[in-house]
Amino acid sequence: MRPIVIAANWKMNTTPSDAGDLARTIASRTRVRGVTRVICPPFVAIAAVRDAVAGEEVEVGAQNVHHELAGAFTGEVSAPMLAGLATWVIIGHSERRAYAGETNELIGVKLDRALEGGLRPILCVGEQLADREAGRATAVVDDQLRGALEGRDSAALAACGLVIAYEPVWAIGTGRNARGADAAAMADAIRTSLRGVGWGSLADDTPVLYGGSVTSTNVDEFLSEAAIDGALGGGASLKPDEMAGIVARAGVTAAARGLAS
Ligand code: PGA
Repeated sequence: MRPIVIAANWKMNTTPSDAGDLARTIASRTRVRGVTRVICPPFVAIAAVRDAVAGEEVEVGAQNVHHELAGAFTGEVSAPMLAGLATWVIIGHSERRAYAGETNELIGVKLDRALEGGLRPILCVGEQLADREAGRATAVVDDQLRGALEGRDSAALAACGLVIAYEPVWAIGTGRNARGADAAAMADAIRTSLRGVGWGSLADDTPVLYGGSVTSTNVDEFLSEAAIDGALGGGASLKPDEMAGIVARAGVTAAARGLAS
């Protein structure tokens, strides 16, 4: 049974002094059975969020991790440094692909580091608008998954709880979300890609989230799709009212799938 996951990507927002309050408020307003809640603050606010949600069933993630373990990499953070701070990590977010030049191959190496470090990866994939308009969306996402996963140990990645987030780039931060049916079709295509790189039946056990302008108003469209197992929110994830609505709706799906007992 795949878990229902609602993950909050705070991006470059919040400071150590305000992140704890925001996390505490969100935690207290999203206590819903059967939904795994993850908050991914900026690195400098991770400790504050971890402390703020101690005692709540809220998990903490990093937004990135370096592909090396240690060394002369000024300004970077490695997986061993996150021990005791985070249990999840977002890998391959489109903003990092775009602004930090992350390639599928590099993203694959980051998955190795997450695995060794006991961090549960949220691997982000998604096409550009031009790709979708040209009918290439599925091929682009398949390339991303192949580049990152081919040759890697599927059983180990599945055992550490790898989650895939389908985030069409044109939907991120634009207020223009994908259609639920299109996201569900992509979730099916993602599982086909996983089978294509040797995941076999593990593909069906892998959670696929949707991300891209998710709100409490449109999340229903995604969570009513059987192929979709949650959401990765950006802008909405900084707003307690929005998070309360999103997680409440996720709870309905969790109950319908028998996860809420
Ligand atoms: P958004 O961001 O919800 O603000 O579109 C989603 C994401 O980038 O993960």
